[in-house]
Amino acid sequence: MQNKEVYDELVKKFEELYGRKPEIVAYAPGRIEVLGNHTDYNEGYVFSAAIDKGTFFAVSASDDDSCELTAADLMETAKFTTKAVAPAKEMTWQNYVTGTFNWLFDGNPASARHGWKGMFLGNIPLGAGLSSSAALEMCTVLALSKLYGIDKDRTTMAKIGQKAEHTFAGCPCGLLDQASSMYGAEGALVKSDFRTNEFETVSMGPSVAFMMVKSNAKHALVDGAYASRRQACEDAAKYFAGVLRKPVTHLRDVTMAEWVLYRGGLSETTAKRAVHPIGEDERVLQGAALLEKGDLKSFGALMYDSHESSRNWFENSCEELDAIVDAAKAIPEVYGARLSGGGFGGSCCLLVDPSAADKIAAQITKEYKAKFGDEPVCSLIKPSQGAHLV
Ligand code: GLA
Repeated sequence: MQNKEVYDELVKKFEELYGRKPEIVAYAPGRIEVLGNHTDYNEGYVFSAAIDKGTFFAVSASDDDSCELTAADLMETAKFTTKAVAPAKEMTWQNYVTGTFNWLFDGNPASARHGWKGMFLGNIPLGAGLSSSAALEMCTVLALSKLYGIDKDRTTMAKIGQKAEHTFAGCPCGLLDQASSMYGAEGALVKSDFRTNEFETVSMGPSVAFMMVKSNAKHALVDGAYASRRQACEDAAKYFAGVLRKPVTHLRDVTMAEWVLYRGGLSETTAKRAVHPIGEDERVLQGAALLEKGDLKSFGALMYDSHESSRNWFENSCEELDAIVDAAKAIPEVYGARLSGGGFGGSCCLLVDPSAADKIAAQITKEYKAKFGDEPVCSLIKPSQGAHLV
């Protein structure tokens, strides 16, 4: 079992606190975003992967309508009943779980036959842009579905987690993080189409791996920058729907050539925001063809282009992430690098030759330290299996 030490610690703490073994345990991994940035809510394409770090959620039914939820790393417990499930202002970590519980019951958790005692523990670094919150939602939805005997497909479960983000955690995210956690597979990338919600896995050979480099720049998507980018994309889509003689509902429907011709009618800022997901969609489709041919160098070049687009157009990068990508460009064993996920801090995702991992980590750490005084965290990531019951 992957991350067995985390599982063992969780089960031990569960028994100590609740005086019984959990009935059900589920696991869900974090994710890296490899190509396709801020395309998901524009109904576009993404390459991502589930990572080898994740979160376990352990749960047992209670006899009445009471619920207890414990964050095992903090040993803090939230108590509520099935009749009073609402977004919390304190111990806000609970919102990912309670929001998921709420939407598993279509917003009416009071209809649940009984309450539950739950506890979770994971090893995904927080605030690193590796979707620890989606992992928590996905292990919660799997475990609670099993507990109540509710049968939902994986895409529906992913959407339940997304709804929890929107309404309980306050982040208007797309479906990427939850879908990657649900559909990840060992040694494979997930290629997602967020118009049709088709999720396909693409195997990667052993000669290539990902390295995540976590900057120390804070990454928080609930503070408005993410929401303002999403709004700009939606405004742009409305504009293109008005000027193009074809149906447009999302930026997915707009080509680069159309953007060039019609951008003049948009404000400078909205035009800059819109071109990013449009370019990213094209890069993911080109990338898919390159992966099929095994052309990693050219695929990596698209990752560098993606970062430039974030840096210059979408403005969701920052000094620290730019420095990591710039350092990566000088290392021949790195094929490509870009920010991963929402941006504004967090981590970069590097496509690397795994046999040179130590050299790459040392070089990037040296340059980052010279600039910022502290060290980034470099870790080799193995694309891994998606969420499952344990
Ligand atoms: C965050 C969001 C995702 C997606 C990415 C950017 O991770 O949660 O839905 O929009 O940013 O691609």
